[in-house]
Amino acid sequence: MRNRVLSGIRATGRLHLGNYLGAIKGMLALQDDPQYETLYMVADVHAVTTPYNIEELRVNRREVIVDYLAAGLDPEKSILFQQADVPQHLELAFYFSSVVTIARMQHLPTFKDKVKQYPEAATMALLNYPILMASDILIYKAGLVPVGIDQEPHIEVAREIAGKMNQLYGMDFPEPKRFKTEGEYVPSITGEGKMSKSVEGSYINLTDDLDTVKAKLAKAPTDSGTLGGNIPKEGGVGNLFTLLKLFTDNETFVKFVIDYREKRIRYSEMKQVLADAIYKELLPIQEKRREFEADPEKVDQIIKEGAEKARAIARETVEEVRKKMGLL
Ligand code: ADP
Ligand code: TRP
Repeated sequence: MRNRVLSGIRATGRLHLGNYLGAIKGMLALQDDPQYETLYMVADVHAVTTPYNIEELRVNRREVIVDYLAAGLDPEKSILFQQADVPQHLELAFYFSSVVTIARMQHLPTFKDKVKQYPEAATMALLNYPILMASDILIYKAGLVPVGIDQEPHIEVAREIAGKMNQLYGMDFPEPKRFKTEGEYVPSITGEGKMSKSVEGSYINLTDDLDTVKAKLAKAPTDSGTLGGNIPKEGGVGNLFTLLKLFTDNETFVKFVIDYREKRIRYSEMKQVLADAIYKELLPIQEKRREFEADPEKVDQIIKEGAEKARAIARETVEEVRKKMGLL
């Protein structure tokens, strides 16, 4: 058996540069490596752990698949599917919840952040989020998970669950590791925190045209850095430099670092260069997206076949767990 890889992105909105560099780039690299069998899903069930709009979810769970295809994920090489089409994930998550304490879940930074964001909606589904994610991964016995650095606490939970299930029930789950990419942390263009779908104004979408990229970068704050000396690590200016490093060649990056040190940097020029570099990377993705948008039947077929392949593997693991737990 080849080593399995699983990853997913929540169906909560259009994908952005953070999702692309932190997750999809890693997904692409592993898909093209023949030692791995890759499974990539849309985490649509995870979308119901925070307040959402039904019609938007229906659209987004499909749009993420189209974004995957546009970015180069290939149904000939990877199993692409929607999480809700494989209900076995939910069944396994319930069994897993029997080996996890409430306290462990309540103390996760990701849980606390979401409760702060939606104080009225601290639901059981939200508390169970990491358990469902562990089930997504372990149901395929995946050992490698390409995700951004913000997901590390969840991968840690998956490792703990794998260990407990192996110890208590004699399962053979691998302890999954995160597969890192260079863009494992893409900062927000607001100058604060990470780029995120749930923070308005923080992101550049994969579908943005050049004018939109320029307009968004034009709004990025640049007044938080004091000129001269080392470039700041955080804030508006720091974040622009991080993006510049991720999207331009070393020569361009160094030129602006020197301009900054010598107090002659022109941020409008820097933003222009950055916008062009970002758009250069987005253009082929957008062209490929149009091909798939023009062929909805093909997308439907890919989603249907992906679900069938994923279910076949998932059923086996659930059956094995039920036997070992005394439920079959
Ligand atoms: P968001 O925070 O925008 O809602 P998700 O939580 O759905 O995004 O994350 C989907 C994937 O993209 C995960 O692997 C996550 O680690 C990655 N990701 C999200 N934002 C970033 C970012 N700013 N930098 C790097 N990776 C990111
Ligand atoms: N929690 C991930 C995120 O916020 C999405 C996700 C759900 C996931 N299940 C997963 C990622 C399984 C990797 C593996 O982006």
